[in-house]
Amino acid sequence: MSAKVTVRKFDAVIVGAGGAGLRAAIQLSEAGLKTAVITKVFPTRSHTVAAQGGVAASLGNSEEDHWHWHMYDTVKGSDWLGDQDAIEFMCRKANECVIELEHYGMPFDRTDNGRIYQRPFGGHMSNFGEKPVRRSCAAADRTGHAMLHAMYQRNIKANTQFFVEWMALDLIRDAEGEVLGVTAMEMETGEIYAFHSKATIFATGGAGRIYYSSTNAFINTGDGVGMAARAGIPLEDMEFWQFHPTGVAGAGVLITEGVRGEGGILRNANKERFMERYAPNAKDLASRDVVSRAMVTEINEGRGCGPNKDFVYLDITHLDPATIMKRLPGIHEIGIQFAGVDCLKEMLPVVPTCHYQMGGIPTNYHGQVVVPGKRTQNEIVPGFFAAGECACASVHGANRLGTNSLLDLLVFGKSAGETAVDELKKSPKSHKELPADAFDRTLARLDRLNTQKGGSNVHESRLDMQRSMQKHAGVFRFDNLLKEGVQKILDIQKDVQQTEIKDKSKVFNTARIEALELDNLIEVAVATMVSAEARKESRGAHVRDDAPDTPERPNGRDDANWLKHSLWYKEGNRLDYKSVNLRPLSVDTIALKTRAY
Ligand code: FUM
Repeated sequence: MSAKVTVRKFDAVIVGAGGAGLRAAIQLSEAGLKTAVITKVFPTRSHTVAAQGGVAASLGNSEEDHWHWHMYDTVKGSDWLGDQDAIEFMCRKANECVIELEHYGMPFDRTDNGRIYQRPFGGHMSNFGEKPVRRSCAAADRTGHAMLHAMYQRNIKANTQFFVEWMALDLIRDAEGEVLGVTAMEMETGEIYAFHSKATIFATGGAGRIYYSSTNAFINTGDGVGMAARAGIPLEDMEFWQFHPTGVAGAGVLITEGVRGEGGILRNANKERFMERYAPNAKDLASRDVVSRAMVTEINEGRGCGPNKDFVYLDITHLDPATIMKRLPGIHEIGIQFAGVDCLKEMLPVVPTCHYQMGGIPTNYHGQVVVPGKRTQNEIVPGFFAAGECACASVHGANRLGTNSLLDLLVFGKSAGETAVDELKKSPKSHKELPADAFDRTLARLDRLNTQKGGSNVHESRLDMQRSMQKHAGVFRFDNLLKEGVQKILDIQKDVQQTEIKDKSKVFNTARIEALELDNLIEVAVATMVSAEARKESRGAHVRDDAPDTPERPNGRDDANWLKHSLWYKEGNRLDYKSVNLRPLSVDTIALKTRAY
């Protein structure tokens, strides 16, 4: 029997209370708009809390820096797949957004003269690629944690209304394609609500849980991306996933790149600093895709460490213990808890681990969701915004630079909030009527879970998906494995469409929540595998055996055929493409060239 749906009205509804959601909410609430934030967990437990090493901004507090250098590094890091208008916008806005945080009370570390402390991070260089620069603004190795607290408090002051332990289920769109809010479940009661809004902002984070080994929290199930796909929005560049070089071997827990920023060194079984061979200039501070591939190559060629030769070491034993305890206290603790290693005395065992989704819901740099239409390839979806990891602005292209994620969520969270405020204030409107079928998709999903008999098991299907993603779409990609992977993931999708839960109770039913999350994860997994199989070149984090490094195509990149964004549509499981914007807002194009560090 169908559930009853209670409708609540807000000017704006934001889904997700991580950095992007909180930053957007500040903008809306401070403008006096009635703003709801729906979140599965208490805001300060959102996955942004796990961001360790810092937020990028060319403040130049310790040495000369410039937003244009930051822009150059980001375009290069993206392997030229990033849109240069959005990248210029982000890098220019970085300083303002970080200083705002400082004024919200964020406890950044300080230099001796009282300025925000900055450390080097992979791929961030001075003077258009010359040498590593201190650009990452840090609060020890707990930057995301400090950021969430500062922004949550600011939201409390601004009267943002939080719906904590609520899960958004589906997007509500009318016949014209306008977004009118979301359906959601209150976990405590299992009751279903509709949040009817004039502006809907998705800030739901990533979906790293499609992989078996991930630095991501269990909550990172691609909810916004799944909801958007089901509502007919294409997903952009989903083949590009970042493997962070330093997850704790066996546990996957993140060891910040800030460790290498502070002087940490990667070593193979011969104790060799092997990054000198792969990236003679940047060495251990090359961009993440380059470092991850170097590590896997060392392991594959027999120079891995440990009894199974399946990890490498991260060495900070040469650093001053006082510096480690001041700048990296969390890493010291993680080493003890998850690797049984005191990193002051011993090296940490690390492996590349799935960390970040470069693709997502297509947006422009105002945070508005855009889709190909009759007139242009980027037509605005009225009422719909997205920011942070669930969105693809696209500033990260084929590979994100470390600490550009916290920057992305600040800049585009603010920008989405600002655009929504402008729209709602400039032309005030009343709530558009909800269509008769507004809740149908949600009710059908819930009905199925209540009635399914003899279906598949949620845990087993999820594990199948995670293992398949790890094997078929990992750090290195192989044509035959990708082809097999597409077939496998489509089969798993069929299982997911008939998952059965034994417990049908309503109150805090985590079995139902996990089944609903799996509906979202599988959309992301299918989009990833299908987009990856189709892209027949190597670029950034997507490196294929059949697109090797040759003199004609350095690094295997094929600009003639593949300098374009992928768009995956759920309906018909089909792909389309759109061009990359190589035109910045005010400066010259960063011209295409071969990427080397
Ligand atoms: O290594 C880190 O601290 C992670 C930062 C990031 O993903 O931007």
